[in-house]
Amino acid sequence: MSEKELPDHLREDYLSEETKTLISALPSTKDFLGKLYNYQGCWYYPNTLLGVLNFQKGFTPQETDIVIASFPKSGTTWLKALTVALLERSKDSSSDVPHPLQSDNPYGLVPFLETNVYLNCSTPDLTKFSSPRLFSTHMPLRTLQVPFKDSPCKIVYVCRNVKDVLVSQWYFRCAYLQKEADKSLLESSLDSLCSGVGCFGPFWENVLSYWRGSLEDPEHVLFMRYEEMKSDPAAQVKRLAEFLGCPFTEEEEEGGSVDKILELCSLRSLSSMEINKTGKTSNNVHYSIFFRRGEVGDSKNHLTPEMENKIDMIIEEKYKGSGLKY
Ligand code: A3P
Repeated sequence: MSEKELPDHLREDYLSEETKTLISALPSTKDFLGKLYNYQGCWYYPNTLLGVLNFQKGFTPQETDIVIASFPKSGTTWLKALTVALLERSKDSSSDVPHPLQSDNPYGLVPFLETNVYLNCSTPDLTKFSSPRLFSTHMPLRTLQVPFKDSPCKIVYVCRNVKDVLVSQWYFRCAYLQKEADKSLLESSLDSLCSGVGCFGPFWENVLSYWRGSLEDPEHVLFMRYEEMKSDPAAQVKRLAEFLGCPFTEEEEEGGSVDKILELCSLRSLSSMEINKTGKTSNNVHYSIFFRRGEVGDSKNHLTPEMENKIDMIIEEKYKGSGLKY
């Protein structure tokens, strides 16, 4: 794939000479899609790194801001949809205006700070965001927190079993590159995951930054697990609502509000919406490829026992002493 065909956050054409000079001092490497730079312990493609720098330079938090954070392919789209639906329920349901999830993809409703909002500008127009503003990120917590320091904003992180993340990432890459499930791409994704060198990696640093953040400051950082959202979605959506300061009332619970939100945000419902079947992100990625099987343990169908062992050993070692069990 040529540089021109890549989505803009993977390219390097937005970098000014000044930024190029600045980042040339950073550790760098390459993967199959392009150059990667290490900034504050995390790897980024050049334009994405520019987005991170723009964000750190230009963002001013508001007290009510909410940030959905994740490592890619951990359930970000689902968590975004649930958050939008939770906040939307206080609005007038009798109006004729369609639900935001029916007119836009969660990706459009909750844009990424580094790859959308600040990708090419440190002073974007944020007036279209009404309070509470919803943003998302794949940056690790310490990088996100630079402008958010001392802000009471709420950060929700979704974590997923690393092996399912790997397989989800593999399918996503194949779909994106319009290739059949290509085993060599699985091998290179595995290498990148295990070495920690890949966009937004190392995986474990991303997870542990939010895990520790949630232990230190549970009022402002919520750590959610994809697997728990799958096994007990009602309990997890109520937990999310409480954390965001919009708990379900008794009347709402009795009126089936929790189930309605879960149904609206289910994979089946979201993936069958017209916008998600036909739309694309601002980076030109089809929304449809963000929805696949959404199953826990799908990696068992694709990884060999050797691959699983290799990942298990690394993750066990990295999580040791953190108290995080996965
Ligand atoms: P699979 O590839 O395992 O199916 P992200 O949103 O972070 O990119 O993660 C994508 C993963 O979340 C994909 O997993 C996708 O199918 C799953 N997913 C997307 N929407 C979902 C939903 N509403 N409920 C459950 N899983 C969902």
